[in-house]
Amino acid sequence: MASLPTSRQISSGAAFSVDGMAFAYPESRRGVFERFSLKARPGEFVAVLGPSGCGKSTLLNLLSGFLRPQSGHITIDGAPVAPEHPALGYVFQSPNLFPWLSVLENVRFGLRMNRRGSPQEQRAVALNFLRLVGLEEQAEEPPHRLSGGQRQRVALARSLALEPRLLLMDEPFATLDAMTRATLNDELLLIWSSLGQTVLFITHDIDEAVYLADRVLVLGFPPAGIMAEVAIDLPRPRDQRGTRANPLFAELRERLSEEIAKLTAGNKRVI
Ligand SMILES: Nc1ncnc2c1ncn2[C@@H]1O[C@H](COP(=O)(O)OP(=O)(O)OP(=O)(O)O)[C@@H](O)[C@H]1O
Ligand SMILES: [Mg+2]
Repeated sequence: MASLPTSRQISSGAAFSVDGMAFAYPESRRGVFERFSLKARPGEFVAVLGPSGCGKSTLLNLLSGFLRPQSGHITIDGAPVAPEHPALGYVFQSPNLFPWLSVLENVRFGLRMNRRGSPQEQRAVALNFLRLVGLEEQAEEPPHRLSGGQRQRVALARSLALEPRLLLMDEPFATLDAMTRATLNDELLLIWSSLGQTVLFITHDIDEAVYLADRVLVLGFPPAGIMAEVAIDLPRPRDQRGTRANPLFAELRERLSEEIAKLTAGNKRVI
């Protein structure tokens, strides 16, 4: 992977705070969240695990301002969140690239929409971030000529190009094979350690959560909220062999498995 862009480094991540939030979808009788609270400090990497349907994607949509809570407060660096907040980046499970645009133009798209710099500057920034995710040589390719892992890298580069200080990631690597996922986990950690964004990362994979995060939250079935919170005190930088061989890794994984087993014991749904 190429070195990180030096001219556009992000100074620090954004703090966010969710305080006493309640949310129900209009057409639904049961709330997804009731008096839900969560805070993250600037630059923290928080992973969220939880059963299917517990509200993980809804939480990201609330944090990004796409959805509005019925009560409570959501702030980013102390200011109320709003859609298109400049501090926010969002990476979805599916890369959602425009098939008619080249890889480079896909990464440039947000810069163009936000009128950030001249077209030349936008292309230079896009190329910088493609270099960062190891795809400089594919810049002129259409997305359909890329593998699933490469497409997800493009999606990551597209979010990073907007210099988010809070990166919301909704199962971004869930559809990838284990080896590609491990590589992307390492690339993400390298980018995060250099750029310092705050990350909220949703996953169904306990190992992935432990490997990446500073803190792992387990969400329960609505409107239960946070059922467990586990600090991941594994040393950094992390690496696939050393970190996974650390006895603490197995211990943390076991603790989280137990928490999830408790949740799913009385419920047929699984994570
Ligand atoms: N647009 C919607 N309208 C009504 N209810 C919805 C809508 N989107 C989600 N829900 C409901 O809200 C709850 C939380 O959904 P959400 O998508 O946040 O779950 P999730 O934890 O992300 O699940 P998964 O792990 O399967 O992605 C679910 O019960 C779901 O059925
Ligand atoms: Mg979801």
